[in-house]
Amino acid sequence: ARMYTGLSWAHAKVRGDEFSRLMLTTGMRDPCPHYRRLREAGPLALSSSGVWAITGHRLCGQVLRDSRFGVRTVPYQRDAQGPLEYQQGAEEDFSVLGLDPPDHGRVRKLAAPAFRPKTMASYRPAIERVTYELLDRAADLGSFDLMAELAAPLPIRVIAELLGVPDEYSGPFRDYGAIVAKSIDGSPSAMNVPELGAATRALEELFAELLTRRAREPGNDILSQIAADHAADRISPREVLALCRILLIAGFETTVNLVGNGMLALLNDPEQWAALNARPELATAVTEETLRYDPPVQATIRYPRETVHLAGRRIGAAEPMYVLTGAAGRDATVFADPDRFDIRRPARADHLAFGAGPHYCLGAPLARLEGEVFFAAVPARLPRLVRDGPAVRRPMMALRGLARLPVRAG
Ligand code: HEM
Repeated sequence: ARMYTGLSWAHAKVRGDEFSRLMLTTGMRDPCPHYRRLREAGPLALSSSGVWAITGHRLCGQVLRDSRFGVRTVPYQRDAQGPLEYQQGAEEDFSVLGLDPPDHGRVRKLAAPAFRPKTMASYRPAIERVTYELLDRAADLGSFDLMAELAAPLPIRVIAELLGVPDEYSGPFRDYGAIVAKSIDGSPSAMNVPELGAATRALEELFAELLTRRAREPGNDILSQIAADHAADRISPREVLALCRILLIAGFETTVNLVGNGMLALLNDPEQWAALNARPELATAVTEETLRYDPPVQATIRYPRETVHLAGRRIGAAEPMYVLTGAAGRDATVFADPDRFDIRRPARADHLAFGAGPHYCLGAPLARLEGEVFFAAVPARLPRLVRDGPAVRRPMMALRGLARLPVRAG
């Protein structure tokens, strides 16, 4: 369960701490009162058992960009430079999220071409096709759960297309991927360890099979690219699988919740929903404002490699620091009237919803494109959409999103 170190909270040895208890229980239902209380102690607060919590926008960004902080508490055990190999018994995170330099840069570079602007633009037709297919089906239903019918299937179908997962694999990919994606939150409530282990192995077998196929018959997709890099010895077998897995799942729970959290905020405010209906080009602003106001990823963790002095405090090496990027979006010194969802804010994309620095979200351009397409397509297909019952939040920690959002096509 320590596979997705970057986004995982459970591995930090802070359980039982007053701060993490709050985060585990009521904290994430509505984290804002909690953020406000922490902020009273300054942009960098220390909880009772020595866990640092950063709520200030500037300080969050600074720590994420500062090379004195890493995502690991201990260095890898390794014999030489070069691709990392799996060590018997070691439960290591070999995905980009769990790597520090120099391995991080080497593995990240391999996936980067898939997210270049020109490549991104070529994905738009596929994203639009998937989005409108889902919307048309939902429109026929009349009343439906927006999470189940739209938010959840969209990112999974999109990433399967981009990776080049053939249709006959798409069912198992969806199922295993959804199980593994739950673990990205690291919260015990989301985790079924035996189920997760089995799904991870099944997913890796599927990827191994597909990569062999793509090595023989390359296509114009991300897996073919990874297969070629592997053949050229730039990436080890463990790293290949970790990279495939992170690309598959990093966009699941996150983009699902971008769509869900954004639709909830819009439908809660008929005036803003009407504004989007009148001007669908506001879809980009809806995406950015959702990312600031109710981001799918609320926090991440960093560990100083050495003793550092920050905001007048001394922080010992390897002390866990919770970078509360969700709180950063509500920092009143950066965003005016921060607790108001307002899609007509002057355009500024300096929220930290995608992180910052070396681990800045690789999939950000894809998530933004999906958001832009989706928030423009909903008013086009379902202009009279209204809420139809209570929305239900999911009990998660670092991630924030809905389990259900009942709506009526109107
Ligand atoms: C990293 C958020 C969608 C792939 C991150 C990080 C955040 C984030 C905050 C940095 C974590 C840290 O520094 O510890 C989001 C949000 C998304 C989203 C809010 C949707 C709204 C996606 C998508 C993909 C993706 C669609 C890929 C298909 C990745 C990868 C990393 C990452 C590979 C690791 C980068 C690295 O460690 O160098 N994401 N993400 N994300 N994201 Fe996303």
